[in-house]
Amino acid sequence: MSTLDPKWGTPGLMHDPQLLAHFVPRPTDVLITTAPKAGTTWMQQILHQLRTQGDVSFESIFDEVPWLEAPRTGVTWQDQLAQYESLPNPRIFKTHCTYAQTPGTEVARLILTVRDPRDCCVSFFHHMNGLNLELLPGAPASMHFDDMQQCVDRFLSFGAWYRNVASWWPHRADPNVLLLRYQDISADLAAAIDRIVAFLGWQLTPEGRACTIEHASFAWMKANSDKFTRQSKGAPSVFKDGAFIRQGKVGGHKAELSREQAAALVARAHADLPPECIEFLELA
Ligand code: A3P
Repeated sequence: MSTLDPKWGTPGLMHDPQLLAHFVPRPTDVLITTAPKAGTTWMQQILHQLRTQGDVSFESIFDEVPWLEAPRTGVTWQDQLAQYESLPNPRIFKTHCTYAQTPGTEVARLILTVRDPRDCCVSFFHHMNGLNLELLPGAPASMHFDDMQQCVDRFLSFGAWYRNVASWWPHRADPNVLLLRYQDISADLAAAIDRIVAFLGWQLTPEGRACTIEHASFAWMKANSDKFTRQSKGAPSVFKDGAFIRQGKVGGHKAELSREQAAALVARAHADLPPECIEFLELA
């Protein structure tokens, strides 16, 4: 058996290097690439709505927009890739991989969403503590935080947000890349949708546009949380009520982080990212 290039990473609960190494990208593919908690699911819903002009018949968004590198219980990586192969164009995938680890960066279109690390950290706290761990066999005890400080410490030591943004930032102006800020999508969802459609060159009817705006609103997604919290059709929701499509606020961290915690998260961004990126993220 051939050994994999170490760049695809090591196997984990949500990461199968085999899926990345053997994935065959298509020019029609769209990859949503985000640091965790930066609005990934929101973009999955926006793109699925645009692709279908408003379909809401699905039970789980993950059946429509799979998480590329995440293994599925009881499914081999070969079968999972065969399932990806069977999907019609345009396929849409979500990934949390860095630029170097994402297959298809030369082939597919890529939509990046970035969000303030302080809001991502707070969202991560509620994500972990909102999980129904009994529904996730094999989940380590570390998937629960005793308090916010523990979450901040782990956010910094794991460093996924910083690695992810640092890796994508140099590619923000590549012709096949669209970089969007969470706060801009939040301030004007319709404008963000128009930018995405123009970038992808997809056809959109006025009715499809109106449906996308409605179905990608926070209120609609909150009222239909089940579609975004189960890993596949028929599976139970892995989150407690209201824990995942939670608040959807810009700056919500102010009510939950101490001054020191917020400062530590921002200081690390200053250390890891170039000044233009800090300015773009409004972290100066
Ligand atoms: P909060 O926990 O701050 O509410 P991800 O999908 O990357 O895990 O990100 C989840 C975050 O996106 C959550 O943030 C969630 O509420 C927010 N979100 C999901 N849908 C949204 C929407 N339609 N509008 C605004 N925020 C949304």
